[in-house]
Amino acid sequence: MWHDAQVSLLITNIGELVTNAPPDGGWPDAGAPDGGSPDGGAPGSGRARGSGTSGGGAAVGGLAGSGAFASVTDAALVIEAGRVAWTGNAASAPAADEAVDAAGRAVLPGFVDSHAHLVFGGERGAEFAARMAGLPYQAGGIRSTVAATRAATDDQLRANLRKLAAELLFQGTTTFECKSGYGLTVPDEARSVAIAAEVTPEVTYLGAHVVPPEFDRDPGGYVDLVCGAMLDACAPHARWVDVFCERGAFGPDEAAAVLTAGIAAGLQPRLHANQLGPGPGVQLAVQHGAASADHCTYLDDADVGALASSATVATLLPGVEFSTRQPYPDARRLLGAGATVAIATDCNPGSCFTSSMPFCIALAVREMRMTTQEAVWAATVGGARALRRADVGHLGVGARADLIMLDAPSHAYLAYRPGVPLIAAVWRAGERAAR
Ligand code: NIG
Ligand code: FE
Repeated sequence: MWHDAQVSLLITNIGELVTNAPPDGGWPDAGAPDGGSPDGGAPGSGRARGSGTSGGGAAVGGLAGSGAFASVTDAALVIEAGRVAWTGNAASAPAADEAVDAAGRAVLPGFVDSHAHLVFGGERGAEFAARMAGLPYQAGGIRSTVAATRAATDDQLRANLRKLAAELLFQGTTTFECKSGYGLTVPDEARSVAIAAEVTPEVTYLGAHVVPPEFDRDPGGYVDLVCGAMLDACAPHARWVDVFCERGAFGPDEAAAVLTAGIAAGLQPRLHANQLGPGPGVQLAVQHGAASADHCTYLDDADVGALASSATVATLLPGVEFSTRQPYPDARRLLGAGATVAIATDCNPGSCFTSSMPFCIALAVREMRMTTQEAVWAATVGGARALRRADVGHLGVGARADLIMLDAPSHAYLAYRPGVPLIAAVWRAGERAAR
């Protein structure tokens, strides 16, 4: 059914409505890049169910400053002008122009995928197959995608990106970040960020993904390019700057130079950190006030402490560990220390070619021992925090009406029924997404 955004819509008879509504209606980092207003409304007036096991309190994995999962049973929600206008108990729902009967199914905020590499040419199925036969994952594999990306036309890159963006949407992702990083020349990076900006405001300039072959003998010259002409060409289309800070990619001094130059050009920092081994990435991210340190697979106590005592989100990408047979990050250690944890796909042709947040939630629950509530929170509000967005990831009054209906009675089914397409319907800014 199509829905006109000018018409109010009541979704009622919701078995479980996950609101993740902020405790006081207040968000620390308000502001949407598309000009959306920060959320200020109070949570719905319905019966808070909290963890679904203890009743009463809504906090699950309740961490200082990181908010908490919250849900309402027997619920309803009203959308007006693309925003959440009301949530609460179905019995006290106000009237609306149109109504949808959820028939006891669960409704959640749309997923926020805060880490994806979607502008690329070619594919690396054979590399994946070789890895499953015993070869290790190495950062150098990125170069084969660089060659394919440079060889692709704008329209080929655009078509691949749009296909992946559609996959994300129909798996429940209503906000996603998209990185460049497979062009690695000024024109190829510039067209990558420009094409990404056609589909999302969360565009990340990742010129510092790896050193391309033509700079093998002059890596410093490549860093200068990334901090100079390439940045100048990309910054107008991007919101974020990122660096792959890892052995085989960029060291701490090079990464610091790129982040500093990006910040000076008006971009906000985020970092690929501690994916393939221990290293300085997480500390560097925190020192530069990065919104997020991504991967966080190999952390020492100082890294965990730095994340826990900063606003830098620890973004975990369990699809990568699944697809590379590496150890999973220690989510429980991060949660226990009080770090804010997000889950994202890292959808890319090399280390992890899934576009499915439900799959990543299932991995987070099964492999990283997150509760179902923690995993859903990390895939919604956690991702929003990693993008410094207050308007998405939750269904508090005033939030953008980005929501999904599951063909299931509760959020737990996302992990309980792994691999099953459970997303029955998606609304983005109050508009029903067409299949
Ligand atoms: O996040 N770590 C660096 N970049 C990607 C991998 C990209 C690739 O292998 O093509 C990642 O895992
Ligand atoms: Fe990545």
